[in-house]
Amino acid sequence: MKEAEAEPVQLYRVVRAASTLLTHLSCLLLTGLVAVLSRPGTSWFSWHPFFMTLAFSFFMTEAILLFSPYGSPIRKSPHKTKGRVHWLLQCLSVCCAALGLAAIFYNKHLNGKPHFTSWHGLLGLLTTCAAGAQSLAAVPLIYHSLAKGWSLAKLKRYHAASGLVTYLLGSGSLLLGLCSTWFAGSVGEYTWYLAALGPALSALVIMSQVSSAYMAKKRLQS
Ligand code: HEM
Repeated sequence: MKEAEAEPVQLYRVVRAASTLLTHLSCLLLTGLVAVLSRPGTSWFSWHPFFMTLAFSFFMTEAILLFSPYGSPIRKSPHKTKGRVHWLLQCLSVCCAALGLAAIFYNKHLNGKPHFTSWHGLLGLLTTCAAGAQSLAAVPLIYHSLAKGWSLAKLKRYHAASGLVTYLLGSGSLLLGLCSTWFAGSVGEYTWYLAALGPALSALVIMSQVSSAYMAKKRLQS
């Protein structure tokens, strides 16, 4: 590669690595902030923001970022190991999401409030169902004989595309959760914007990671 061409490539890599690092940090900080503010265990409600941020901001983000060529904590591990850790983190994410949904549902039931009446509640329900369906649909990636007539490459492509949609639904639900009166009333204006940066930045970084991995594969095939 010529020197003039190498510079933009290097800059591109630095930007991708820096934004991936920032995503790790912001998602971890958001999960910590919500845990501190909600004080899990103090009420039924407190478990909802805690489990949901743990599920979608921490476990699901880390489960996808571990495939990133620019900032995976286990970059040097073989792809098989990454697949296993991804599987484990996604299982933890779905379990936390189910617990978070059960907590808010029961809390509303105790207070005699109607269910799924806000945009956050509706999108949240859709997100939790999508995360569950995505995990079930991933089983043929491990037991390939369950999907006769489908090549592994095709299954992986569908899994990546639907996984990205699920992740974006999760980011949208988190953002709407941050707009709730409870969260907006618990933090100052600047903290709110910093908190919202977590799901917004991670959605962009993960969109770019998944789409460029997919495009690279298409280039190799053509
Ligand atoms: C992706 C993550 C999230 C999902 C999937 C989700 C899902 C839901 C669902 C389904 C409900 C409605 C339950 C019902 O009506 O019975 C709800 C309510 C609620 N959530 Fe979340 N949530 C998420 C994150 C958050 C976060 C991070 C916060 C706060 C920081 C939050 C705050 C609230 C509040 C205050 C309510 C009650 C008011 C309402 O129904 O809109 N949520 N959530």
